[in-house]
Amino acid sequence: MVPVPELADRARACADRLRSVDDVLLASHIDADGLTSAAIAAQALERAGVPTELVFKNQLDDEEIASIAAREFETVLFTDFGSGQLETIAEHAARGDFEPIIVDHHQPADAETQYHLNPLLEGIDGASELSGAGACYLLARALEADVDNRDLAKLAVVGAVGDMQAVDGELVGANREIVAEGVEADILKEGTDLALYGTQTRPLPKLLEYADRPRIPGVSGDQSGSIQFLESVGIPLKDDGEWRRWVDLSMAERQSVISALLQRGVDRGVSADALDSLVGTTYTFPGVSKGTELRDASEFSTLLNATARYERADVGLAVCLGDRGDALDRARRLLANHRRNLSEGLEWVREHGVETRPSVQFFDAGEAIRETIVGIVAGMAFGTSGVDRDRPIVAFAEKSDQEIKVSARGTAELVGRGLDLSAAVGTASRAVGGDGGGHDIAAGATIPGGSQEAFIDRFEECVVEQLA
Ligand code: C5P
Ligand code: C5P
Ligand code: ZN
Repeated sequence: MVPVPELADRARACADRLRSVDDVLLASHIDADGLTSAAIAAQALERAGVPTELVFKNQLDDEEIASIAAREFETVLFTDFGSGQLETIAEHAARGDFEPIIVDHHQPADAETQYHLNPLLEGIDGASELSGAGACYLLARALEADVDNRDLAKLAVVGAVGDMQAVDGELVGANREIVAEGVEADILKEGTDLALYGTQTRPLPKLLEYADRPRIPGVSGDQSGSIQFLESVGIPLKDDGEWRRWVDLSMAERQSVISALLQRGVDRGVSADALDSLVGTTYTFPGVSKGTELRDASEFSTLLNATARYERADVGLAVCLGDRGDALDRARRLLANHRRNLSEGLEWVREHGVETRPSVQFFDAGEAIRETIVGIVAGMAFGTSGVDRDRPIVAFAEKSDQEIKVSARGTAELVGRGLDLSAAVGTASRAVGGDGGGHDIAAGATIPGGSQEAFIDRFEECVVEQLA
């Protein structure tokens, strides 16, 4: 019943082992994919009758692994991280501290372990074909007995979208198999629609004003321009005094707006490629009320990031598990704060610019951008004016008095030419006494304060070599 045959044996081995233990400590990554990973695994374990305790970690370094070992659980299930820290984990396992079961999609370190479910071990891309939550979904399908776990496909889709796995707006590879199961189970709807963020909840003019991929001249970043544009298409902006949202429009109205946006783009010289991305695949959940964050995978995942990256993983987890009361209210307040931080962060990058070298570009935000979201800001800044998409971007932010957080982002095109940020960030961070890893297209690290310059030098050497 595991929908991705290449990973079925690994999923079954992990599931069989888990079924046989007394209890398990489930350790997961703090972000949208990590939260959904934990929610899927925890529900599947509960349904299978395996008592589970949960912990969330921002980064799984030696110290954090030691703290997990100190909990004295015989079995530890790592989700959405662990593969990259396999050497340290294997050392603990060899000492008998715990038995690890790893369900992850990050680049594995050079070590072996018996229970390891990771797409990269079977030639499936961990950056675009299966997320941590997707891997956990396969585990859940292998764990199920009486109850069908296909309802959990919903969270797997939220995790994949949260990790930006949609390629040109669409989930591909192993993720597709999960989408298919969700559609079949009637908990997921796949559609083609305007691919802007906020179709469920944003007032129409805001939806267009914030559109930046692609930028529509005279509309993006222009509040009155957006209002005029919508009026020129003949779209009533309010209904009973309330702003209408995209989901409130009829199909005919939606079509008119999309056509007019395309026409505006063509008239003002936006490239056909860029305009193509205006429409894409959407993943919505028919069981949830229209016009709420939880109706759409993209808004759902942002809501989760807004909790997890602000030390409120408990709130995001509760929402994943179905809490629609206090937790959802709290998550919405955190979301407003997260949005403000992202836009301020982006503004900071615009104002200060990036330093451009022949093969890389970077900025050092110091304390100006929170280290837990600096990677998201780097990704958003990528492709804005002054930040070319022809070389990877690196962002630094202060993590503590002694430590600097590094986030690196690339493009599919660069990866196609040989870029592997996981390797480059790993090598450069270890060269300066830090550590890191991730995916070919996105990676991160922690390095000692003051070593940014040395890091960038080493990082650029790696990138030059990779792209040669
Ligand atoms: O730790 P994790 O795997 O969950 O995070 C993946 C990260 O990679 C996310 O921050 C996501 O935004 C980034 N990513 C990206 N572009 C892609 C795929 C992933 O920036 N095409
Ligand atoms: O933190 P950031 O969003 O930049 O992370 C990008 C990717 O690199 C994520 O998949 C994250 O899990 C990974 N990462 C890592 N080790 C670190 C920092 C980030 O594997 N020390
Ligand atoms: Zn992930």
